[in-house]
Amino acid sequence: MHREANRAGAGADGSAIMIRIEDLHRSFDGVPVLKGVSLALEKGELLALIGRSGYGKSVLLKHIAGLLRPDSGRVLIDGEDMAVLRGSRLTKLRERLGFLFQGGALFDSMTVFENVAFPLREKTRMSNEAIRERVMEELSRVGLSGAEEKYPSQISGGMQKRAALARELISEPEIMLFDEPTTGLDPIFGHAILKLIDDLHRRLGFTGILVTHEIHKVFEIVDRVAFLHEGRVQAQGPPDEILASEDALVRQFVRGEIEGPVSVE
Ligand SMILES: Nc1ncnc2c1ncn2[C@@H]1O[C@H](COP(=O)(O)OP(=O)(O)OP(=O)(O)O)[C@@H](O)[C@H]1O
Ligand SMILES: [Mg+2]
Repeated sequence: MHREANRAGAGADGSAIMIRIEDLHRSFDGVPVLKGVSLALEKGELLALIGRSGYGKSVLLKHIAGLLRPDSGRVLIDGEDMAVLRGSRLTKLRERLGFLFQGGALFDSMTVFENVAFPLREKTRMSNEAIRERVMEELSRVGLSGAEEKYPSQISGGMQKRAALARELISEPEIMLFDEPTTGLDPIFGHAILKLIDDLHRRLGFTGILVTHEIHKVFEIVDRVAFLHEGRVQAQGPPDEILASEDALVRQFVRGEIEGPVSVE
């Protein structure tokens, strides 16, 4: 049902693929983390990226955002390779992308209001009044009305996460990367954040990747799932196919079983 969203319009290379990852390799200090990741997302598609802790999900998102460079392979965003773009073309491409970091990452010296207003002040010529209206609307969406004058150190971790989400969503990016958006939130807020992401995805039709360990709730809102294991995408498909997979590895992972091909050390 989400698949109809925003599928029109071809990218710079003439395709409807918004994110294309080709044979991506990346090591840290000689230890390989990504060992040939290939993945493509159509425009408007929302993908859940799952996999064991420490297996490179956050590293993969950082490559898509152009924050890390591949050792080999490529990441194309709407047909363009961020690793070779420079100057205004790189800035323009970056502006189309929002990234909710795993740790939240607010500016500590700014209030919640100023944090959320920041992208509008940087990227638009909106009036102060218009900015105030948009920020208050976005804060109310994430359940933070009344917290606008507080500093990050004065609010809970879950509130920081929601403020960071509001800051990313306020400029309505075409591509959204969510790194564990519900981790650290109570179940009610966690569910509310997923509902917010789902609503915005339907409304704006962004292309998105959502890294999560909360398989069942997230599977209800995504179009497709990719399972990252030992440096590669080992399985991908619609959520119901992944849940019903006969593959021993995928089965063990989605069921959280201790016995199986993956040993628990
Ligand atoms: N900047 C870095 N320098 C060195 N090693 C790094 C760096 N970033 C990530 N790593 C290593 O890469 C591996 C993958 O890390 P990553 O954060 O992508 O895991 P993850 O799948 O997101 O795990 P989790 O589910 O716990 O968030 C880890 O072994 C980590 O230590
Ligand atoms: Mg991570």
